[in-house]
This record gives sequence, structure tokens and C-alpha cells, in this order.
Amino acid sequence: MKKAKKAILVTITAMTAVTMTAAVLAQGGGRRPNPDQTAVQFREALMTVIGGTAVPLILMQRGRMPYNADVVAKDAMNLTTLAGMIPDAFERDTSSSTVKTMALPVVWQNHDEFLMTAGKLKTQVEALDMAVKGGSQDDIKTAIMNVGAVCNQCHMKFRQNPQGGGGGGR
Ligand code: HEC
Repeated sequence: MKKAKKAILVTITAMTAVTMTAAVLAQGGGRRPNPDQTAVQFREALMTVIGGTAVPLILMQRGRMPYNADVVAKDAMNLTTLAGMIPDAFERDTSSSTVKTMALPVVWQNHDEFLMTAGKLKTQVEALDMAVKGGSQDDIKTAIMNVGAVCNQCHMKFRQNPQGGGGGGR
């Protein structure tokens, strides 16, 4: 288990490095990219994709979007990968940088807890994936609720609340 996790992390680290390199190359133009800016852009992009993937699930769970088993299955699978990318995406401590971010300094002051919460998201999306395979709509809805609860839990503690508050789906 521990070994497998480590192997996955190594793979993700390699993947992130490739993505970061692509981002750096894409900037081109001779202007040296600010590494804090690159880190913030990367993790916000990751969160945007996580949000866009999770929102349909949450809407279905709340009955505000018709249930579609194929969408749930695909989103659950994608979220498993995306959740595993959170630790690397938040590795760089930007708390003393002037780059605008909603990540609170506590992300790095209390990094073990942050990583634990990221791990919890991964566990819950894996549980959702299992529920999807099991096929019970009740189990799937409960699993989606559990996923949403971890989004909220992390945002409450580690993210500056956007005006009007909320968290969860956002
Ligand atoms: C381990 C902590 C953690 C978990 C779990 C987490 N988030 Fe986030 N999220 C953050 C932090 C921190 C930010 C602020 C990032 C920044 O501004 O640098 C954020 C930002 C966001 C944003 C705003 C992105 C932007 O810049 O516009 C969205 C949307 C979002 N999260 C959705 C979600 C959803 C949906 C889930 C659950 C499926 C989730 N997050 C789970 C920590 C987390």
C-alpha cells in the first residue's frame, strides 16, 4: 500500500514536471516566468478542472440535473487522477509571495493536515468509483455527498472564502 502510493506519487511528480515545463516553454518571449506565478496558475487550473468535473455530480446528487450513469462513471474516474495531483500542485510555498491567490498560508504552516485532507478526497472519489461499479444510485449519491464534504472541509480551513462564501461545489 505504502509502496504503491509512493510509486504513484513519483509518477505524478514526473507528470507535473512535464506539465510545468510545457507551461514554462509556452510563456516564451524571453520573459522569465515568475515561479510563484507558475505554481499558483498550475494549482488554480487544477482546482478549476476539479471543480468543473465535480459540479455535474453535485447537481445530480441534489436532483438539479438528470442522473446520468455514464457521466458519473467518467467523472469519478477523472477525479481520482485529479485528486492525486493536489499534493504536488501545492508543494511550492507561495505564502510570502505577492502573487494573488486564495490559498491561505496555513496550507504550508500545516502542510501535513493539508496533505491528509487531499488524501481524504482521493479516498472518497475512489469510494465513489466503487459505488458507481456497484450500481446502487443511493450509494452513489451518498458517495457524492462525501466527496463534496471533503471539498468543503479543505476550503473552510485552507482557502480564503470567495465573497458570498459557499465552498463545496466551488
Ligand atoms: C486539500 C485541500 C482541497 C481540496 C480537497 C479541494 N480543494 Fe479546491 N481549493 C483548495 C485551495 C487551497 C484553493 C485555492 C487555490 C489558489 O487560489 O491558489 C482551491 C480552489 C478551488 C477552486 C477555485 C479555482 C480558481 O482559482 O478559480 C475551485 C473551483 C475548487 N477549489 C473546487 C474544488 C472542488 C469541487 C473540490 C472537491 C471535489 C475541491 N476543490 C477540493 C483546496 C482544496
